[in-house]
Amino acid sequence: MWQTGVTREAERVLGGNPEATGLRFEVDGEIATITLDRPEKRNAQTFALWSELTRIGNNLPEQVRVVVVRGEGPSFSAGIDLSMFGSLQPGSDLDSSIAEFQRGFLWLRRPDIVSIAAVQGHAIGAGFQLALSCDLRIVADDVKFCMKEPALGLVPDLTGTKPLVDLVGLAKAVDICLTARVVEAEEALRLGLAERVVPRDELATAVKEKTAQLLSVDRAAATATKRLLQGATGRSLEEQCAAERAEQVLRIRALNGG
Ligand code: CAA
Repeated sequence: MWQTGVTREAERVLGGNPEATGLRFEVDGEIATITLDRPEKRNAQTFALWSELTRIGNNLPEQVRVVVVRGEGPSFSAGIDLSMFGSLQPGSDLDSSIAEFQRGFLWLRRPDIVSIAAVQGHAIGAGFQLALSCDLRIVADDVKFCMKEPALGLVPDLTGTKPLVDLVGLAKAVDICLTARVVEAEEALRLGLAERVVPRDELATAVKEKTAQLLSVDRAAATATKRLLQGATGRSLEEQCAAERAEQVLRIRALNGG
């Protein structure tokens, strides 16, 4: 159902080891697919997985325009591998360690790509945050988002709090995080957490359709537009108009060969 693509090229470029990291990486032309591939552990995420995500981001083949993040099996991801708990000691440089983990999630917002999370079943903690790191979320009707960190005495620290607030607003974000409750498909769609809800067996097709739509527009214009949109909330109207002009001048010059 999911395209497997040019795995060998991806391995050559990245040298990844899916058995050690629990991640599979495939490239097919302009589309890259990252698969969390430890379904027997509900795609629980390890430090090795987060390092591998960073490595994939650093080595993403230049032709890639769309990155699909998906999980094998019944759940997108059950969050951090609970066996990792306790391995970060208070005496160590925790800030640097967490910054390192966050790098694996941050690059998915790069303006030159569009990232799509294809989410089925549970997306808990780090799983929810990985989905939030993507530009778009297409979800199956059995999706269960849960920000469980506060229930475990922790905060969500894998770059998920900002996109959550941007998407659903502060009050809903407080409600979702501070109760650690489950958000199901209908609510996710209503809140803007999901772009589309489809039956579970149509998830791959829905992602394929969205990918084709995204690839149908000009790449340089898409990159410039994403940059503009990403900066919009941080700018005044006047500043945003100036940013639009600056990007458009570059586009017009490029289209006229100069
Ligand atoms: N870490 C390690 N192993 C996990 C795991 C996790 N997060 N989640 C599930 N597994 C393992 C189970 O231990 C089980 O392994 P065995 O077969 O060897 O016993 C296997 O995956 C299947 O699990 P279930 O039988 O529980 O599967 P299920 O489909 O009935 O339930 C689930 C799925 C609801 C996700 C449930 O497994 C669950 O609640 N898991 C824990 C979720 C969790 O608390 N995650 C941490 C969130 S906090 C975070 O991610 C961020 C942070 O930095 C703190």
